[in-house]
Amino acid sequence: EKGGYDHFMLKEIYEQARSIRDCLRGRIYPDQGKVQLGGVKEYADKLRNIDRIIIVACGTSWHAGLVGEYLIEEYGRVPVEVEYASEFRYRNPIITEQDIVIAISQSGETADTMAALEIAKERGATIFGICNVVGASIPRITDAGVYTHAGPEIGVASTKAFTAQVTVLTLIAFYIAQQRGTLTQSKLIEYLTELNEIPTLVERTLQCNDRVEEIAARFKDSNNCLFLGRGSSFPVALEGALKLKEISYVHAEGYPAAEMKHGPIALIDAELPVVFIATKNSSYEKVVSNIQEVKARGGHVIAIVTEGDTQVREMAEYVIEIPQTDDAFVPLLATIPLQFLAYHIAVMRGCNVDQPRNLAKSVTVE
Ligand code: M6R
Repeated sequence: EKGGYDHFMLKEIYEQARSIRDCLRGRIYPDQGKVQLGGVKEYADKLRNIDRIIIVACGTSWHAGLVGEYLIEEYGRVPVEVEYASEFRYRNPIITEQDIVIAISQSGETADTMAALEIAKERGATIFGICNVVGASIPRITDAGVYTHAGPEIGVASTKAFTAQVTVLTLIAFYIAQQRGTLTQSKLIEYLTELNEIPTLVERTLQCNDRVEEIAARFKDSNNCLFLGRGSSFPVALEGALKLKEISYVHAEGYPAAEMKHGPIALIDAELPVVFIATKNSSYEKVVSNIQEVKARGGHVIAIVTEGDTQVREMAEYVIEIPQTDDAFVPLLATIPLQFLAYHIAVMRGCNVDQPRNLAKSVTVE
């Protein structure tokens, strides 16, 4: 059932062009600049007038939530708070009937996420779900929701579910923008046309596998690794670090690149690999200076760059190219090389990739 792949995780990484395509199907009409989300249609008016959205989730799904925060705030211009479900539920959170609380959960069964939603519901908020498993507990208690349609995810490390969650959040951001008029029709057409191309760009991104495998061979014995990015590539850095930790048991940290000089820079020595997401988008120049700072201290820089990049190529020890795309869609592409990196390092270290020690696919106890 692994379809010829050595592990489910690898199969699921490769499925992402298809899973994102399935997630978009019937939901975008690029020529008309229109997003259609049947699951939340009843709440279109509520979304038009919303003052605040709260996202609750755990683990990788929480990282997707952070990407969602950037997207919804940027395009829909609605303030978003992203909370660890486990913290939110025990904090006597301030929730009103005006709020929409969105739970993100691949399994739809995570105990803390479920409990956070129940509290939000009790306090009168409208509750939405972004889940993968159809008919799971979370989709059963929510008022509305959008399924990710990534198909069953067997590997404990979440891969295609993450990119599908980010895809749904992208759709929600543009849906809100459409309801609130925060993007012009011509901008919406432009964005949705590009979004429609993402599955094809994902296919091209998947071709980085061999390159990433070489890099993994070089760094497989490192005991630490730092992942840095800015803007919506910051949650991508967090996700890269979590993947590496959970399946290869290498200590890894993800940070916003600018936070490096507030502490983690002290870790940099000639042993430490530092993975940068340094694509050609709005924070490019800033990331370039962060790369210089790491180099000056002897760190090994691995950079994910946009195809054709020359500036970072001259500075970094290793580069991995991904196709050019708009800022909005960078997380969908930039995550893929990080998934491969964690995968290959784990395999090379002899770890059980699909079922890492101490971890369960769905965490149904708190
Ligand atoms: O099923 P969920 O999305 O609610 O699960 C949340 C986390 O347990 C999950 O994302 C976990 O962090 C993964 N193992 C990450 O790869």
